[in-house]
Amino acid sequence: MRTIVIPGTDIRTSPIGLGCASLGSRISPTLGRRMLEAAFEGGVTWYDVAPSYGAGRAEEILAPFVAAHRDDLFLCSKAGLVPPKNNGLMRLAYDLGRPLVSVARGLSRRFRSIKATRNRRVALSGEFLEASIASSLKRLRTDHLDVFALHDPDPADLDRDDVIRALERILARGDACHISMAGSLNAALSAVALPVFTFFQIADDPDGRQLPALNEALDRPAGRIIHSVFGVGGARDRMINRLRKYPALAAEATAAGYGERPEEIATTLLMRRAFAVNPEGVVLSSMFSAGHLAHNLRLASEPPDPAAPQLAERILSAP
Ligand SMILES: NC(=O)c1ccc[n+]([C@@H]2O[C@H](COP(=O)([O-])OP(=O)(O)OC[C@H]3O[C@@H](n4cnc5c(N)ncnc54)[C@H](OP(=O)(O)O)[C@@H]3O)[C@@H](O)[C@H]2O)c1
Repeated sequence: MRTIVIPGTDIRTSPIGLGCASLGSRISPTLGRRMLEAAFEGGVTWYDVAPSYGAGRAEEILAPFVAAHRDDLFLCSKAGLVPPKNNGLMRLAYDLGRPLVSVARGLSRRFRSIKATRNRRVALSGEFLEASIASSLKRLRTDHLDVFALHDPDPADLDRDDVIRALERILARGDACHISMAGSLNAALSAVALPVFTFFQIADDPDGRQLPALNEALDRPAGRIIHSVFGVGGARDRMINRLRKYPALAAEATAAGYGERPEEIATTLLMRRAFAVNPEGVVLSSMFSAGHLAHNLRLASEPPDPAAPQLAERILSAP
């Protein structure tokens, strides 16, 4: 596995991180634990979680894995979103749904769409942040987070005095080594002006201009963590569509080593694009299937491919 050093820190990590949003919901605890170990064995050292992930179960499922490898991995958890009130029912639906999905492939897409978007946003306050990280540390059975992130915050809350003071106390106590904003581009742009934030986690939808906008605003060393590299608005599906419509573009991508089938080209190209646009940061991926993990680890091991962003843009902008 290739490694990167996060600017402004002494963190040397894999350029790919395992996103645990589905750990305990779509992904069963048993499969999840197996894939966490497989990712670690493959060289993944960055793990991204939140109290709301996996219908509220992800942090607890991660705990034994974290205990086994604490000094050899980096852990980011968050505060700001909590699971829905009817969480028990949601967990039951996931537990009953998983075996059905494994026998009826058609259900899979629908199952994936029951995602964490029904999580509740909690009003930010200094008190809430301190209580939230204390609960996360307890659930994760660790004494510190490498990164503590505000999860989808309202940009207006970021510079509130009680919020900043609480984040400073969390750092001073050693409960977290770094503070991050994990949410919208607007929130990231507001956080740039606040020195307590040294990490920025945003979507990098290939259709959007999120990461270039953040890079333009950031005039200091910082961690950049990106997700949604296959597109929030369906960039991967659109790319597959364009590759089918324009065989010459598909042939060009195949000749350049991005694979044979449109699906494979799109996935490989968008992943390589993500590593190329964020060469000193981490690309988050949900990769709880063995095939996805193997594919993404192979791509993360290669040096960044400077040609990928331009080719991706050309295909996506084809009419
Ligand atoms: N506000 C925030 O802070 C925020 C928001 C969104 C996401 N995140 C973080 O980012 C992580 C990733 O989220 P995402 O939305 O960007 O999801 P993603 O990694 O794009 O994953 C979406 C789907 O793509 C599949 N996949 C992964 N690699 C693939 C490959 N090589 N070929 C085909 N399919 C592949 C995954 O399947 P499998 O998992 O089944 O392998 C998953 O179902 C989350 O888990 C979370 O940690 C943070």
